[in-house]
Amino acid sequence: LTRCNAVLSNSSSSTDMTELADIDWDNIGFGLKQTDYMYVMKCDLDGEFSNGELQRFGNIEVSPSAGVLNYGQVMDSIVCKDFSRFLTLKRNLLVLSDFGLFEGMKAYRKQDGKNILLFRPEENATRMRNGAERMCMPAPTIEQFVEAVKATVLANKRWIPPPGKGSLYIRPLLMGTGAVLGLAPAPEYTFLVYVSPVGNYFKEGVAPINLIVENEFHRATPGGTGGVKTIGNYAAVLKAQSIAKAKGYSDVLYLDCVYKRFLEEVSSCNIFIIKDNVISTPEIKGTILPGITRKSIIDVARTQGLQVEERNVTVDELLEADEVFCTGTAVVVSPVGSITYKDKRVSYGEGSFGPVSEKLYTVLTSLQMGLSEDNMNWTVN
Ligand code: COI
Repeated sequence: LTRCNAVLSNSSSSTDMTELADIDWDNIGFGLKQTDYMYVMKCDLDGEFSNGELQRFGNIEVSPSAGVLNYGQVMDSIVCKDFSRFLTLKRNLLVLSDFGLFEGMKAYRKQDGKNILLFRPEENATRMRNGAERMCMPAPTIEQFVEAVKATVLANKRWIPPPGKGSLYIRPLLMGTGAVLGLAPAPEYTFLVYVSPVGNYFKEGVAPINLIVENEFHRATPGGTGGVKTIGNYAAVLKAQSIAKAKGYSDVLYLDCVYKRFLEEVSSCNIFIIKDNVISTPEIKGTILPGITRKSIIDVARTQGLQVEERNVTVDELLEADEVFCTGTAVVVSPVGSITYKDKRVSYGEGSFGPVSEKLYTVLTSLQMGLSEDNMNWTVN
């Protein structure tokens, strides 16, 4: 990345260098580190986004009646008190908008320390547009999205971790910021991009994670919004996740809500199993997020001559698998060390990646970091 067309609305402050110097690049973890700039672009009722600009990173002002506040998080607060009521509500209110979508992307600093790589940014732009269509929201064009991401990354270039130490996590948001009281699409939408340097998502670092299969709570329902990256999907998993974490598990693996038998996904990532060198992952059917890392791993595996099946995967197959791993922008490719299902614990591997998933991890991340030639044409310089 070299070029940035965006307007800067004010200049940098003198305290930033101290904050940057304070970062321990070997232990960044996955939390917000305030960077210099964010990108903001608005759209009104004509549905066109325009006049995007870089602004100093900081709080934003929205009406108490903003669509994102009133019809996004309010429904989610019901989840914690009574999940089944929430599911019924979601089923009955399918045309409702949560007025909030987000994306997750990463920029890597190449080995030369100067050049920056983005990974398949058009895929995120397209996914946001698909989500916006589902949620009755206007969305930036693919070109506007990619330009905004590039501008935000370049404006915050000094925050991109040194090669091999992590990445700059990019969080594009699309939200209904116009005021509404009755249930209707908001009259104004804001597209915002901010960034933060990050390291490993799970506290386990690169060590395998321990998942528990959730039997009571569900992440998504058929006909609902589980297949789009709306903010409500993530609030909906917090209750089960916090119970699991309190018991020492890394995260929760959800089952389908009809048969309670088929794998769906983990709170923040997709799931894969490997048995006899065949890789299987739940097919995209409306309740599963179409992960870009998921899609890339499938392509990488097929390019390596491996068989990949996208289909219904049962919890029994999971317990019989040779290797299990998760994929996502934040988690990258994370090996699963154990699964607990109805008090039965099954372990995989010897405390590290299995051989097939390690190969996939290495091929994908080498490409993302610019360590190998990009013969898939996925990275953007
Ligand atoms: C990502 O992987 O980028 C996500 O959006 C998941 C998020 C919960 C960290």
